[in-house]
Amino acid sequence: MSDTVFKIKAAPGGKASSIPLMGNDGEPTIFEYAKPGRKSYNLLDQKLPTGELNDLLPASYLRVNKLELTEVSERDLVGHFTRLTHRQYSVDLGAYPLGSCTMKYNPKFCDELAFMSSFNTCHPSAPEAVVQGWLELMVNLEEALCEITGMKAATLQPAAGAQGELTGLLLMRAWHDDRSHNKTTIIIPDTAHGTNPASVTLGGYKVKTVGTNEKGLVDIESLKSLLDDEVAGIMLTNPNTLGLFEEEIQEVASLIHSVDGLLYYDGANLNAILGKVRPGDMGFDIVHLNLHKTFATPHGGGGPGAGPVAVSERIIDFLPGPKPTRLGTNSYGYTTPIKSIGRIHSWHGNALVLLRAFGYILFHGSEGLEKISEMAVLNANWLKRRLEDTITPAYNRPVMHEVVMTAQDLAKDHNLKALDIAKALLDEGFHAPTIYFPLLVHEALMFEPTETESLDTLEALARSVEKIIAQSKTNIDDIKSAPRNTPVQRVDEALAARKLLATYDAAINK
Ligand SMILES: Cc1ncc(COP(=O)(O)O)c(C=O)c1O
Repeated sequence: MSDTVFKIKAAPGGKASSIPLMGNDGEPTIFEYAKPGRKSYNLLDQKLPTGELNDLLPASYLRVNKLELTEVSERDLVGHFTRLTHRQYSVDLGAYPLGSCTMKYNPKFCDELAFMSSFNTCHPSAPEAVVQGWLELMVNLEEALCEITGMKAATLQPAAGAQGELTGLLLMRAWHDDRSHNKTTIIIPDTAHGTNPASVTLGGYKVKTVGTNEKGLVDIESLKSLLDDEVAGIMLTNPNTLGLFEEEIQEVASLIHSVDGLLYYDGANLNAILGKVRPGDMGFDIVHLNLHKTFATPHGGGGPGAGPVAVSERIIDFLPGPKPTRLGTNSYGYTTPIKSIGRIHSWHGNALVLLRAFGYILFHGSEGLEKISEMAVLNANWLKRRLEDTITPAYNRPVMHEVVMTAQDLAKDHNLKALDIAKALLDEGFHAPTIYFPLLVHEALMFEPTETESLDTLEALARSVEKIIAQSKTNIDDIKSAPRNTPVQRVDEALAARKLLATYDAAINK
């Protein structure tokens, strides 16, 4: 922790203090720039007389005390936040091979669509008659997602993959309750993303874990041993989080269906199979799509995102509502499915993210989407082949869109851990790959190059990994002290997670 704590320079007239900051280049917090009377200008402020506000809002909603905002000048405000943005790494800046998260470049034409005032000035509660275009777009997007996944209907409401998972589990519960099934348990593989067990628990079910076989796939014998009448369903992603295609998916589907269970598809890896194979055709009943992973919308640091859920015929009646619906030729409105689980998000979810994804799908068309998956898979296999003499693949067979390597031997022989490689890659100008996930691979490094990186970039990434590994054999201390070129250097991550100081007040009063 000590290296994250340093003296910060006082802003003119401000007070110096010693607190943990985001970086060590002395950029003060915004509070340090404050001085009474400093402010920025907003033309609207000047124009709106209080009287008008009073007419618009009931008195009980009006603030009585002065709002205690930090008083900073516009110049300092813009300078401060611009300097902070220069300390970030982003998909716009360079390669971001963060496996499972699918951090691909977001094309700017999608943003241009979202900037169009005809879309972004509509209020979601506007009467249906004046938002026919938006409703048509959402109905068309639902249909496109159903076509891509092989499902029958969808909801666009969930705001992220994790919320899609919760929606899916609520749909499973509603479906089982409707049939008076007494179900208590959901099966998930030991390679599953952490959101899967969390969603199962939130959805009111217990988790049973199915093992992985030596090929890196769901172990069918282990699955059979877990099946009983209490199993409500299974959550799987295919390809799985080891980047491997579940070849026996149809057998998995028939086993789960044989106990009246449902199959939930975690769509985080859908970008690997676009146009090749569809979850609906594999036997899945409920699918979430991470639009930010598959269709290149912003990840948004936790939001706004979009995680639509698509379902098979038998789940349609339970979908969240109200749903944008085609009422006739060129006529759109809302309907609520007959046994709906209710709302999952206000209105339609994050509409401008949905708009970006729709633009992306239309632009690429079915051939383009298929090409995207082919390139994502090609890039991951190229990287695996390029690196496999330097660092061991966890499963030495062709992969889909991501490849999991293990630094287990390097850790044993040279004390070079996955964490050290990830940190040293930051100094090389790359974002780190995902590390220590999936949990069953020791010293895991999961690289997902995505289709948007060029061969030159992949070669540069491979060379950097080689360089780090070679260097560790002669000077491990050098690697252990990386990164050195980033605003924040090596921190005590365990302590940071256990003693999170998330606010300025918490930091100075600790
Ligand atoms: C396999 C898998 N499932 C679910 C999620 C959760 O998705 P989201 O981040 O959109 O909530 C992720 C996120 O990285 C994931 O990789």
